[in-house]
Amino acid sequence: MAFSPQFLEELRNRLSIADVIGRKLRLQKRGREYHALCPFHNEKTPSFTISEEKGFFHCFGCGAHGDVVGFVMRNEGLSFPEAVEKLAQEAGLPVPVSAPEDRQRAQRQTSGLAVLEAAAAWYEERLRSAAGRSALDYLKGRGLEETTIARFRLGYAPDSRGALKLALTGAGFPEALLVEAGLLIQPDNANGRGGAPYDRFRGRVMFPITDRRGRVIAFGGRILGDGEPKYLNSPETPLFHKGRTLYGLAQALKAAREKDEIIVAEGYMDVIALAQAGFAQSVAPLGTALTEEQMVELWRLAPEPVLCFDGDAAGERAAARAADRALPLLKPGQSLRFALLPPGEDPDSLVREQGGAALREVIDRARPLVAVLWQMEATGHRLDTPERRAGFRERLRERLHRIADRTVYQDYRIEMDRRLDAEFGNGRYSGGSPAGGFPGRSGWARGSKLLPGQRTSAGGEAARRGMPDPSRLQQEIALAVAINHPDLLAQHAEELAQTVFPTGKLDQLRQALVDAVALHPELDSQMLRHYLSQQGLSGVLDALLHRTKDKRFTLPDAPPEQASEGFLHILALMREREARRETDAAARRLAEDMTDEALAQFEAKQRVSLEGESRRRDLDR
Ligand code: UTP
Ligand code: MN
Repeated sequence: MAFSPQFLEELRNRLSIADVIGRKLRLQKRGREYHALCPFHNEKTPSFTISEEKGFFHCFGCGAHGDVVGFVMRNEGLSFPEAVEKLAQEAGLPVPVSAPEDRQRAQRQTSGLAVLEAAAAWYEERLRSAAGRSALDYLKGRGLEETTIARFRLGYAPDSRGALKLALTGAGFPEALLVEAGLLIQPDNANGRGGAPYDRFRGRVMFPITDRRGRVIAFGGRILGDGEPKYLNSPETPLFHKGRTLYGLAQALKAAREKDEIIVAEGYMDVIALAQAGFAQSVAPLGTALTEEQMVELWRLAPEPVLCFDGDAAGERAAARAADRALPLLKPGQSLRFALLPPGEDPDSLVREQGGAALREVIDRARPLVAVLWQMEATGHRLDTPERRAGFRERLRERLHRIADRTVYQDYRIEMDRRLDAEFGNGRYSGGSPAGGFPGRSGWARGSKLLPGQRTSAGGEAARRGMPDPSRLQQEIALAVAINHPDLLAQHAEELAQTVFPTGKLDQLRQALVDAVALHPELDSQMLRHYLSQQGLSGVLDALLHRTKDKRFTLPDAPPEQASEGFLHILALMREREARRETDAAARRLAEDMTDEALAQFEAKQRVSLEGESRRRDLDR
């Protein structure tokens, strides 16, 4: 419904934003403004500010911002017209219904809603009647408790062609309205002999589908036990648009806002079972892939809705489709996450068999969208030649072009480059795969671990494994010791600072460590790791720790003397190698150009090299 600007102006004038918000939050007046604890993020000191004069609120903590209508929309999870209607009522302003068609439609809608509400109540009653016995048994057999059945207003449509029709027409609802609401089927009238309308839902457990305010707008009906079709849904009606509706939304709003989380499952029973298991913040689309409108709705509730998919190929494909569809809609801070369930499980079966903790784990391990994109392009492709890798890079780039928001796009480019670099870049054997899995919180690394076959398909790492580049391994060992023994790092920072590594990522890590101790010599291992992860280096770090884990002296619990000895040895080896390389180069220059200067340089390099070698030999002993 469109409201005229005059009406909205009048509404805002009549209401005091401080009054409206003051009914929900405790306000403190400071000068001309009011302060409160922000209801949109967690905080201990108030950064939520209201300016009565300007008629808006602003949170300096989370950036939430808006006028009185915006506040009600956000705080109560209402749409714009819903919030306007509610506020108009409070302000005693009649909501203008402009054109006669609008008025008519509004009226038809209210009677549409009334008939659907009556049907829902009637189905609920049937479930409690003798006729509904088997349906109730069915639901209980699926583990549903009374309170859950009541909360979702589950019902039963008796196996009859006219029971609902009789009950509702008897209550005064016209037959045509029942047809329009999708409750009755009007047989085809093609040859002019169409029969009388009859009940659409027969012999089914009924799931009322509501709008976000909890008003019934349609139904889904499940057959008891096996049979086809398993679920029957209301047709599209003036009130029900499948692609705009999320099952369970009304029941999920409160929990979603409180927990700042929304879980998207695939089916009715998933939502209900999740709610019963303590995940009230759950919704589902209605048997179709998530639409853009549904995504937008989800983002009103939480910045990163978690989509649950079956852990099989079909689930992976569905995740890919959702990821692709989300790209044009991404905004800073606004994305999706993807949880893969164990193969053959849906959320309903998982919580029933393994409990809420199992689901919590799956959700916490959900992959970020960027990982799904990567996986989409990597799956089924061999990436073992430059051409294939270039193709892969191109496909990724093209996909990223679908991101409309510039800031998000740029960050995706950076992230993808980082991944490409870690996977294929730099040194010949840079197996520093971000899929390596930081043992901490790097969501993307951990999530990737879940993907079977990712390594071989994306990295060809298996092919590279068997033949480590010795110098690379040395660099990794040196870094592992440095990270696990920060005191050694602090002691030998100067040497590490002078030993430039030839491998880009590892050299970045080396430099970062040197910087870290220079700034904060007191950093412990934990803090170092945190610092490195902030530098975007957890992927490399993790991979190198993994590869060096059988070198005992690098591990955190190794005796300090051993660690120190190993560390110095490696640094010496690296310096020796470097010196030898420089000596060789000086020898070549000398051969081309027999000058005194070139000879002096060669001799100097050779001296350094020999000194290094004998120092290292001392260490060897
Ligand atoms: P599922 O077959 O995964 O349903 O379909 P489910 O929720 O796990 O069903 P139970 O556990 O066997 O009861 C997922 C969703 O797809 C739609 C429904 O919305 C269902 O919840 N669907 C499925 C239909 O619309 N029609 C069907 O015949 C089947
Ligand atoms: Mn199921």
